[in-house]
Amino acid sequence: MHSPTPLINLHGFEAAAADLLPRMVYDYYAGGANDELLLRTSRTAWSDRALRYRVLRDVAVRSQRTTVLGHEVDWPVFVAPMAFQQLAHADGEVATAQAAQDTGAGMILSTLSNRTIEAVRAGTTGPLWFQLYIYRDRGVTAELVQRAERAGCTALVLTVDAPLLGRRERDLLNGFHLPPEVSVPNLGGTLRQTLAGGHESTVQADAAPTDTTASALAEFFAQHWDSSISWRDLAWLQSITTLPILVKGVVRGDDAVLALEHGAAGVIVSNHGGRQLDTAIPTARALPEVAAAMAGRGTLLVDGGIRRGTDVLKALAMGAQAVLLGRPVLWGLAVNGRKGARQVLQLLKDECDLALGLAGCRSLAEVTGDLLE
Ligand code: FNR
Ligand code: LAC
Repeated sequence: MHSPTPLINLHGFEAAAADLLPRMVYDYYAGGANDELLLRTSRTAWSDRALRYRVLRDVAVRSQRTTVLGHEVDWPVFVAPMAFQQLAHADGEVATAQAAQDTGAGMILSTLSNRTIEAVRAGTTGPLWFQLYIYRDRGVTAELVQRAERAGCTALVLTVDAPLLGRRERDLLNGFHLPPEVSVPNLGGTLRQTLAGGHESTVQADAAPTDTTASALAEFFAQHWDSSISWRDLAWLQSITTLPILVKGVVRGDDAVLALEHGAAGVIVSNHGGRQLDTAIPTARALPEVAAAMAGRGTLLVDGGIRRGTDVLKALAMGAQAVLLGRPVLWGLAVNGRKGARQVLQLLKDECDLALGLAGCRSLAEVTGDLLE
């Protein structure tokens, strides 16, 4: 596909996608909460850390293979759960999961996907985990868990940093909503309807859309999300599933320990890509504390602002077993479906391999904390 922007790195894909996507969609994908300060620090917190690379280590043969929660993967990356991927490409989450499989990465499917759990599972044989939000209606939640189990997902990811939806001003201004041809087939009819709603906001100086009804997603959260969820609900979730549960959205050591004490298989250090609590701690700064508190118990993953192979290397050096990649996959999907998403992942995979070798490492086992200044 022709694009004036060179698709030489993940930034190039963002620029190309920004040209292609309708404004409402690009803003929903790219945006963050409030002043989007955390969006910026999420990136700089990785780039600010310097690498103390080793030399003369014979790095002619390298491997990024590793095991994450029992899955053998070719490299330590999973696609982050992201809602509404058909806004980027008609094949939506099926194409994303296939792109992940093409490069040997894993895939986490959002509850708010536009393709069914079953269709995504049928489209790929790679590792597939299901991300869950807890709805006010615990019946809806339990049914989703059963569907994910039956379909063959091998882990649940419980997202805990969104008891309320962050204030996304771009979505309020754009009147974010799902167009009629895009649905959320994992959810029942009444839950679906709200997302198609939204009101085109007429932005006038005296009538700014401060009301959450301006964004259909904000309205959906307000109606159906359970903001009373607590650690008790993690125990409840555990009681209705045999799948391992990862708790996503933790940025503190004490919360990570609580997650383990409540039976979680591990945690994902994340602040939802800067979309929830603005000025929260960037994950590159939170990860060392969480790694220390977990002390090798359970699975530890991280996401947020990872755009370069060197970012992945730093995350591993801080103690993560793998990382999640978010928005860049959507940019690839928008540019060229499965092929575009695959190109994005392959670029990052090649960068990771190069960073590994230049740091003097032949395998992920050699990526240790002393590589960081
Ligand atoms: C998200 N994220 C997210 N997380 C989640 O648990 N469930 C979800 O449905 C969504 N939806 C979603 C939509 C979009 C458009 C984005 C950009 C993000 C958060 C996501 O899983 C992840 O934490 C961040 O996106 C990671 O940061 P980067 O890589 O995008 O900077
Ligand atoms: C988001 C929600 C759906 O970040 O997780 O848009």
